[in-house]
Amino acid sequence: MCGIIGIVSDKGNLKERIIEGLKRLEYRGYDSAGVALRKENGIFVRKKKGKVSQLEEELREVEVNSRVGIGHTRWATHGEPSDPNSHPHSDCTGRIALVHNGIIENYPQLKEELRRRGHNFRSQTDSEVIAHLVEEEASRDDFLEAVRRAVNRLEGSFALVIINSDEDALYIARKDSPLVVGLGEGESFVASDIPAFLPWTNRVIFLENGEIGRLSFSGVEIYDFQGKRKEKKPQVIGWSLAQAEKGGYRHFMLKEIHEQAKAISDTIGPRIERDTNSAVIEDLPLAPRHIKDVLILACGTSYHAGLVGKFYFEELAGLKTDVDYASEFRYRRPVLSPSTLVVAISQSGETADTIGALRKAKEMGAPSLAICNVVGSSITREADSVLYTHAGPEISVASTKAFTTQLSLLYLLAVYLGRERGKIDREQESGLLSQLLSLPSKIEHMLREQEEKIREIGVDLSSYNDALYLGRHLNYPIALEGALKLKEISYIHAEGYPAGEMKHGPIALIDENLPTVFIATESKVLDKVRSNMEEIKSRRGKIISLLSGEHPEIEELSDGVIKVPLVDEYLFPIINIIPLQLIAYYAADFLGHDVDQPRNLAKSVTVE
Ligand code: F6R
Repeated sequence: MCGIIGIVSDKGNLKERIIEGLKRLEYRGYDSAGVALRKENGIFVRKKKGKVSQLEEELREVEVNSRVGIGHTRWATHGEPSDPNSHPHSDCTGRIALVHNGIIENYPQLKEELRRRGHNFRSQTDSEVIAHLVEEEASRDDFLEAVRRAVNRLEGSFALVIINSDEDALYIARKDSPLVVGLGEGESFVASDIPAFLPWTNRVIFLENGEIGRLSFSGVEIYDFQGKRKEKKPQVIGWSLAQAEKGGYRHFMLKEIHEQAKAISDTIGPRIERDTNSAVIEDLPLAPRHIKDVLILACGTSYHAGLVGKFYFEELAGLKTDVDYASEFRYRRPVLSPSTLVVAISQSGETADTIGALRKAKEMGAPSLAICNVVGSSITREADSVLYTHAGPEISVASTKAFTTQLSLLYLLAVYLGRERGKIDREQESGLLSQLLSLPSKIEHMLREQEEKIREIGVDLSSYNDALYLGRHLNYPIALEGALKLKEISYIHAEGYPAGEMKHGPIALIDENLPTVFIATESKVLDKVRSNMEEIKSRRGKIISLLSGEHPEIEELSDGVIKVPLVDEYLFPIINIIPLQLIAYYAADFLGHDVDQPRNLAKSVTVE
């Protein structure tokens, strides 16, 4: 789970561009960073523990006029974050350098074998063995063939970019870790993700598993691992550079929170037929009437979206739905049938656990659908069909707009399935979709009216060590997601819990040092939520409430109130999470944390 980039360009002077690309990839890991640039008689390598900005500082005075170079930003797996363990890694001669994202599972055996043949290792990483393997092979073959033979010996996952000191070329290979090629004028790029080279080209080729290639000034040649040439067509990506930049906001997270109204419109707009107000779903692996039940597989925030999706599928489409953590599903012996629709939800499309769970479900014969944000990512290629969320690039590690677009799409899909399966009629469908269409403007209104209030509440919450998030029914998953947001960026311990379960244990924790955020918007269980509030208040607990409509008795019980616009009950999860994202943001920012790159985390979790 690292970020890698390579550029080969007849314009030269690549140092700045590689650093710029690395900054755009830093969301994938930020334990260390490094670059390798081919110079007149060898390869210049500089690598360092810490963030890309520290590497940039170190390189400020360095002049290397290079026409080919690679860069890496690391999320440590094998070997602690340190200068020697940083990438790029070199062979014994220093004439080969590479960057790697993934895990080489058979590296102990390879390392032992290479050591016996006289190779010297300088790091504790699995990645370094690849440089020595290529060195061995290059002594008897041309370079592409050497890389091909070396990757055929690797077990595990890898995205690789390799350079040598003799030519202006990048050698690339992929298995189970993402790699995208960019094609420019007199220059070619390769990276873990498109934003890394988006300022210079939007013509891309997604490398697939088992592909290897050579990039030069004039383009790319791609082969399979057996050496057979493959023809691949470039695609033009619609993402703009502005979407991959902060656009005046202090952090990507704040920008992405504010982009949610537009992201939802972009996701649902093209899928609603305006004349009839009916849902249009472009691609499903199974006809709606043949679906017997649904299984949702996901991790983290996407898993929380799945929990809300369960309500949608069951209540709007009459489909029994299970939701599983992908990491748990993989190692169980689940019961699936060819009429179980498996829905894998993932922002990145590269989460190793979700990919593993999807593969297992497919092996068991279930038809699969991916709900994903990143075009061309692994999950989209492995699932039988794909529905894209159109959130645009999500750079901040904490997921925000991906979540609300996932929820909007799940709602739309449930309405579509409900109609096709005869559970709702055209009139009900039209009503449900009108509500969905009105959501973006309500979100914008709420942000205008409430953000300052939410900021004050976030700052106040930052002085506590713990917090509780409570909700019931559709808002229970939102309590989980609100707590996850606070934990991951402010490092304040937070727990999401079903409000009705409090009395079965956790209520013992309540005192004046444990604030509770209650999601108390309009619903059929609101009276019950109010009773749960009373239980907290009578134990001197501090209460912050998310409220819609007029409820003076709840305001009375609350120490802080955030007002949310009235929407249909099914849509409250989508609007309710936004103030909770902002609470976490403002708490973390007040505490001086790195909001976009919280400690120990990375955006795509490509390891198990
Ligand atoms: C939390 C967060 C993670 C991801 C999880 C799954 O803010 O971002 O919990 O949701 O790692 O990632 P995707 O959706 O890319 O599969």
